[in-house]
Amino acid sequence: MQLQSLSFLATVTVFILVHHVTARDLRHVTEPKTPQACVSLKSSGKDDTVAIQKALDSCTHGKAVALSSGIFYSGPLTIPSGVSLLVEQGVTLKASTDPKLYDLGGNKCGTIDELGLGCKPFIKMHGAKGSGIYGKGTIDGRGGTKMVGSNITWWHLARNAVVVRQLQNNPRLIQINNSMDITIYQITLTNSPFYHLVAHETNGFTVWGIKIIAPFSALNTDGIDPVGTQNVTIAHCNISTGDDDIGIKALTAPTRHVSVLNNHFYGGVGMSIGSETNHGVRDVLVSGLTINSTHNGLFIKSNTLRGGLVTNITYENICVHNAGSPVQIDSNYYHYHGNNTPSFRNITIRNLKVLGNGTYIFHGLSASDPIQVTLEDVHITKGSKFSIRNSNIKGTWNEDARGSCAFAGNEAV
Ligand SMILES: *[C@@H]1O[C@H](CO)[C@@H](O)[C@H](O)[C@H]1NC(C)=O
Ligand SMILES: *[C@@H]1O[C@H](CO)[C@@H](O)[C@H](O)[C@H]1NC(C)=O
Ligand SMILES: *[C@@H]1O[C@H](CO)[C@@H](O)[C@H](O)[C@H]1NC(C)=O
Ligand SMILES: *[C@@H]1O[C@H](CO)[C@@H](O)[C@H](O)[C@H]1NC(C)=O
Ligand SMILES: *[C@@H]1O[C@H](CO)[C@@H](O)[C@H](O)[C@H]1NC(C)=O
Ligand SMILES: *[C@@H]1O[C@H](CO)[C@@H](O)[C@H](O)[C@H]1NC(C)=O
Ligand SMILES: *[C@@H]1O[C@H](CO)[C@@H](O)[C@H](O)[C@H]1NC(C)=O
Ligand SMILES: *[C@@H]1O[C@H](CO)[C@@H](O)[C@H](O)[C@H]1NC(C)=O
Repeated sequence: MQLQSLSFLATVTVFILVHHVTARDLRHVTEPKTPQACVSLKSSGKDDTVAIQKALDSCTHGKAVALSSGIFYSGPLTIPSGVSLLVEQGVTLKASTDPKLYDLGGNKCGTIDELGLGCKPFIKMHGAKGSGIYGKGTIDGRGGTKMVGSNITWWHLARNAVVVRQLQNNPRLIQINNSMDITIYQITLTNSPFYHLVAHETNGFTVWGIKIIAPFSALNTDGIDPVGTQNVTIAHCNISTGDDDIGIKALTAPTRHVSVLNNHFYGGVGMSIGSETNHGVRDVLVSGLTINSTHNGLFIKSNTLRGGLVTNITYENICVHNAGSPVQIDSNYYHYHGNNTPSFRNITIRNLKVLGNGTYIFHGLSASDPIQVTLEDVHITKGSKFSIRNSNIKGTWNEDARGSCAFAGNEAV
């Protein structure tokens, strides 16, 4: 009896300690609940933009417009404040491939130029509070389908842009700007022409149990990008893309209090911070991440063009299998130059297992501002390579990694 209550007490204490160490999001976040429907729509088989937008605009606050059967085709949509979109299991919402529908006014969408800012997103929220996207259905950006009036796809346009060192004007799949308490739950996002899910200057952003799938060859198809966003939880997601699986950035405002918990990546560039770190990225926890077959694993990148302070970053309980660079912390990434010094401090990597040899890169900008990294319980594969300069690394690694990462990660493909 006494023993039992002692062990119960110990369990509770451990739980409290672990819990305390874990969440960096200052909110208390639990699994989201899908809101009730204000209306259920069936697809017409034709363009349903007007019907969906009308339903969203007249939905009661706190409820969701349910897409309940069929394949819906639509142009750009706006989710109003307090209202959600629910794409039910077996239903697909497909984005129109007509660049004209996304054009911001200059006839740039679907073309290449220096800025790449010519298109509206497919789904946007702006100044919304308590909105979301729910359901076990799919939102398909159709990046690999030919654009209307063109013989090439959005992804082909992106590759053409690289050749001439310019940018593609492609729509993002979901763009959330200057909003609060936004939830994305269970949905599958696929084949975005550009980034899949961006939250810009948003406070309170929960992404839970979603799937993101795009081919590795599709350029710039980032999975989830919190940009100048605070109080973020990204949990239980499976992600495979052609760019950063998660990309934490701070271009116009600081990004802080980010919890990335129990996710799987199986293709893409990895778990990234940067390269835009101008306004600082801090208080980030990445815990319970399994990575299989990505370009990089844990990746922090910046340069003097987009540099800032990146600090209080903890990675724990990570398993990486088959990554070109399992850990890359680089403050001279792409050799862009400006006046913003990147400074990477207080970065802890704890309980990391890496299967397969790769190159570990720790590149600080200068001896006077070295990268500060602490390694605890790091197990890697024999035969790995290292490139280290201007770095202050506490702790060490053991070349004794064995076994597997539990997650094979090809189920969703
Ligand atoms: C983050 O969440 C905490 C707790 O709910 C809240 O006090 C704080 O204002 C939030 N921060 C921002 C920037 O919204
Ligand atoms: C698209 O059409 C242009 C000329 O109209 C041609 O030069 C180009 O090769 C075509 N591209 C593809 C992928 O068919
Ligand atoms: C969201 O904010 C970004 C950055 O300020 C801006 O470029 C973009 O046009 C905004 N998008 C929408 C849909 O408001
Ligand atoms: C992610 O993959 C794992 C392993 O197959 C599976 O158990 C889990 O349900 C998947 N989650 C999502 C959101 O797809
Ligand atoms: C780092 O985290 C500690 C503990 O949470 C906090 O006291 C400190 O202010 C943080 N430092 C920065 C630069 O955010
Ligand atoms: C480093 O970051 C960890 C985790 O955020 C924090 O607990 C610790 O206080 C920080 N240390 C310093 C010296 O800021
Ligand atoms: C390590 O790399 C070498 C080639 O550089 C390769 O032959 C070998 O199979 C790799 N070992 C593992 C365990 O991946
Ligand atoms: C990675 O995925 C491949 C299949 O894509 C699978 O064969 C392999 O076992 C996985 N590796 C680990 C360590 O889970």
